[in-house]
Amino acid sequence: MDTVFILNGPNLNLLGTREPDIYGHETLTDLEARCHEAGERLGLAVDFRQTNHEGVLVDWLHEAREAKARAVILNAAAYTHTSIALLDAIKAIGVPVIEVHLSDPRQREEFRHLSYVGMGAVQTIQGRGGDGYIEALEHAATL
Ligand code: DQA
Repeated sequence: MDTVFILNGPNLNLLGTREPDIYGHETLTDLEARCHEAGERLGLAVDFRQTNHEGVLVDWLHEAREAKARAVILNAAAYTHTSIALLDAIKAIGVPVIEVHLSDPRQREEFRHLSYVGMGAVQTIQGRGGDGYIEALEHAATL
């Protein structure tokens, strides 16, 4: 069975209590459970992780390459808008990366409009809350 890595960046461990008017009430644990259910339905193993550290995300992208993952679903959170290191990693690994955001950064502050992750991603899903992760998994199943 192919594996899809679902990688979450800084502050997403606080989902459920973090700015719920923007990010909703679903916790990261709830979202992880939904992703595992969707993975079972789609015949994909889901490896779901969260870190607050940029370099750890880079290491995990490299690991996705070594593991020959089917795809990576990446919510790099604030690093989306700052990290050339993540863009370089995405370009380096040869594994398709699907960018997801719970909110729609295009509708928010201007500093969120630039996405380095999006420059390397095969698809971007934003503003769909946790459902966006499930849509990303459905897309991963077609890759
Ligand atoms: C986010 C959007 C980012 O701009 C923000 O820094 C986040 C979460 C989202 O999922 O909507 O931390 O990636």
